[in-house]
Amino acid sequence: MIIRYILASSIPVVFVAALSSPVALATDSESARQEVAQALQRTPNVENGKRAYKVCAVCHLPEGWGGEDGYYPQIAGQIRQVTIKQLADIRARNRDTPTMFPFATLYILSVQDIADVAAYLEQLPMSPHNGLGPGTDLEHGKRLYKKYCAECHGEKGEGYAKEKMPLIQGQHYRYLVRQFEWIGDGKRRNADQEMVEQIQGFSKRDVSAIMDYVSRLRPPLQKLASPGWRNPDFPKFVRDPGFSMGRVSQM
Ligand code: HEC
Ligand code: HEC
Repeated sequence: MIIRYILASSIPVVFVAALSSPVALATDSESARQEVAQALQRTPNVENGKRAYKVCAVCHLPEGWGGEDGYYPQIAGQIRQVTIKQLADIRARNRDTPTMFPFATLYILSVQDIADVAAYLEQLPMSPHNGLGPGTDLEHGKRLYKKYCAECHGEKGEGYAKEKMPLIQGQHYRYLVRQFEWIGDGKRRNADQEMVEQIQGFSKRDVSAIMDYVSRLRPPLQKLASPGWRNPDFPKFVRDPGFSMGRVSQM
């Protein structure tokens, strides 16, 4: 296991513990649903969310912005209820995310931590420079988005808390394309069935155009970080300027 850079001295221990002990946790949708319900009932503690986020920052960065190449998604600014559902799904193996799975186990995140880290992420400002698509087919993308997606994800991709519809505005283009394909292929077993059926009718051109359009939907100004912003909660984070992707190169 090679970690290109780490946040705090305690993390390697956590890493090893997490990787060497694949714990049997909630393994089906029903237990994930129960966990979501429990986490939603907890009163979120943002201070504890910050503590719980420390280990996540290794990949998602202290700002929660992930990478413009889309390997790591932006998770800052996401609706709290959506993050809770995704974390419960990741640890119930309803999503195939081998890189992240060890970090979603109970060793790392209690139900309270899930509630807290989701609240912490919701209040983080979003990246002003997410990864965009080629920009060559935006009219087509806009037309398809308005016709097929806006009803659920919102005109501006802002999502809906109550329905746990993800906010998708300002997300990295390549992450969006990958998730869309995986949802269509059934790799995300937590997905919305109506959306899965819809996706199967799109061509590659359609998907690229829609996601390009989505990646350019700007979050409102009050949700965006100012240029050059760095998360002051993690002043000791070591950044490697020459390194952009695959921070954890072997696991
Ligand atoms: C070892 C790297 C790594 C660590 C550490 C990590 N993640 Fe992730 N995370 C990923 C990757 C890679 C994905 C994208 C998976 C995919 O493509 O489906 C992801 C996806 C997610 C998603 C889903 C986002 C979406 O748009 O649906 C959430 C939420 C998330 N991570 C939160 C966290 C939290 C909270 C922590 C800390 C407890 C954490 N991650 C730790 C690598 C990591
Ligand atoms: C019937 C409602 C519905 C429609 C229509 C719909 N979606 Fe979704 N979408 C969802 C829900 C619900 C989820 C979250 C599923 C889950 O829990 O993982 C989702 C997830 C996603 C994700 C993954 C987000 C993430 O952060 O991982 C993307 C990207 C996405 N939708 C894009 C689209 C696009 C583009 C369209 C139009 C072509 C579309 N969706 C149409 C309901 C819908």
